[in-house]
Amino acid sequence: MWEPYRIKVVEPLPITTRKKRKKILERAGYNPFLIPARYVTIDLISDSGTGAMTAQQWAAMIQAREDFAGQASFGEFADAAISLTGFPYIQPVHQGRSAENILFGMLLKTGDTVVANTHFETTRGNIESQGCHAVDLPSNELPFCGNIDLPQLRKTITRRKRVKLIVLTITSNILGGQPVSLANITQARRIARQHGVALLLDASRFADNAFFIKHYGESKDSIRTICRKIFQSADIAYLSSKKDGLVNIGGFIGMRDKELYERLKREVIRQEAFPTSGGLAARDVAAMVGGLSDSTDERFLRSHIENIRFLGQSLKENRVDIFEPIGGHAVVIMLRKGHPHFAFSLAARIYADSGIRVGIFDDCVRLALPRRVYTLEHIKYAAECISKAYSAKLPHLKLAYRPREFSNFFARYTTASGTKV
Ligand SMILES: Cc1ncc(COP(=O)(O)O)c(C=O)c1O
Repeated sequence: MWEPYRIKVVEPLPITTRKKRKKILERAGYNPFLIPARYVTIDLISDSGTGAMTAQQWAAMIQAREDFAGQASFGEFADAAISLTGFPYIQPVHQGRSAENILFGMLLKTGDTVVANTHFETTRGNIESQGCHAVDLPSNELPFCGNIDLPQLRKTITRRKRVKLIVLTITSNILGGQPVSLANITQARRIARQHGVALLLDASRFADNAFFIKHYGESKDSIRTICRKIFQSADIAYLSSKKDGLVNIGGFIGMRDKELYERLKREVIRQEAFPTSGGLAARDVAAMVGGLSDSTDERFLRSHIENIRFLGQSLKENRVDIFEPIGGHAVVIMLRKGHPHFAFSLAARIYADSGIRVGIFDDCVRLALPRRVYTLEHIKYAAECISKAYSAKLPHLKLAYRPREFSNFFARYTTASGTKV
C-alpha cells in the first residue's frame, strides 16, 4: 500500500564515515541507546515519540493559547477522546508512564497483584515500586499472539487472594507488537466481572490492534468501530499517545467512574499540573487532537504495517531469523544462541557498517519503524544493510557495566582483545 500522504518538510539524514562510527561506538560502550542521535543515519531504535506530524497538527500547535487553566485545547481533546473511546472522563498526562504511576498509586496497596498478557517494562516498574507483584500470562496463540491465557488467568485470580487488576497491553509490546483478539478482551472482561477485578487497557497501540482484528478476519467493522468495542470492554484505559496517537509527547487516561475521576484530578494536580493541561503545554494537547483522529485512518495503518512486513520479509529472504508473525510496530531478530551478548554485537556491527541504529529489548534486536518518517527506499536500504551485517562476523564484546534495572539502556561493553568492529 502506498503511503497516503506527501512530504512537505524534509530533514537531511546525517552521514558519517566508518572510522567516525567506530569511535562513536567505542564512546557509547557499544550500546545503541548511548549513541548521540545526530550520528545516526536511519534510526530504528523506537517508534515512540519519533513519528512525523501533519501540517494540521503543527498549525494547531501554533494556534493553541497557553493558559494555566481551562485551555481550549483540553476541551477539543476531551471531545475527540470521548468520541473515539466512549469513556466519559478523560485526563491528559504527559506520557504513558506518568499515567501508570498515577493510576497504580491510586488503585493498588502493598502486596496486591496485577496480572497482564504482558507488562511493558515501565508498567512493571510502576507496579513493583508500589510493593506489588506483576504477573505475565501470555498465551502465544496464533495469530493473536498477544492474547492473555484465560485458563491461567482464572487460576491465578483464584489462587492468589489479592489480584486487584487485569491489564491488557494492546498490542502486546513484546515481539514487535502482537495483537489481542476482541474475543480474548471480551472473555477477560467476563472473568474480571465474575471476580470483582477491574480491567485496564494499556492501549498505547490500540489502532494497530484494531487493524489486526480486521486484518485477521475477526471483524468486518471499521477501525473506529473496532476501537470503540475494545474500549467498551474496559473499566479504565491509559495510553502513551507517542505511538498510535501520532504525537511526539503526550498520553491520557479514560475512565467511567466519576468518583475515581475526581480523585484522579487531585492526584494529577499533585504530580503533573492543573488537570486541563495534565503536565503538557496547551500546544501539545492541540497536537494530540489531530493525532487521535488520524490514528484510525485505515489506509495509513495499512501502509505502516505493510512497511514493517516488507522489512521483515526482506530480512527473512536473506535468512535473518526473525519472530513471526511480524508485529505491528517492529521486526524482532531472534537471539542467536551461543554468541555472547548477541544483540549488542549485532547492533554494533549494523551501526559500524551502515550508521543504522537498532533497539535492544529482552535480549533481542528490535527494528521499530517511526510513523510517517522513512520511505520504502529507506526501508529497502535498511533491510539490505541489516541482512549483510547479520551474515558478517560479529564483534566479541565484553561486559563492562550492567545496572540491575533497565540494563539494556545503560549497559556498557568493551571489545574482547583481537576482535574487529
Ligand atoms: C505498551 C507501552 N506502555 C507504556 C509505555 C510508556 O509510555 P511512555 O513512553 O509514553 O511513557 C510504552 C512505551 O514505549 C509502551 O510501549
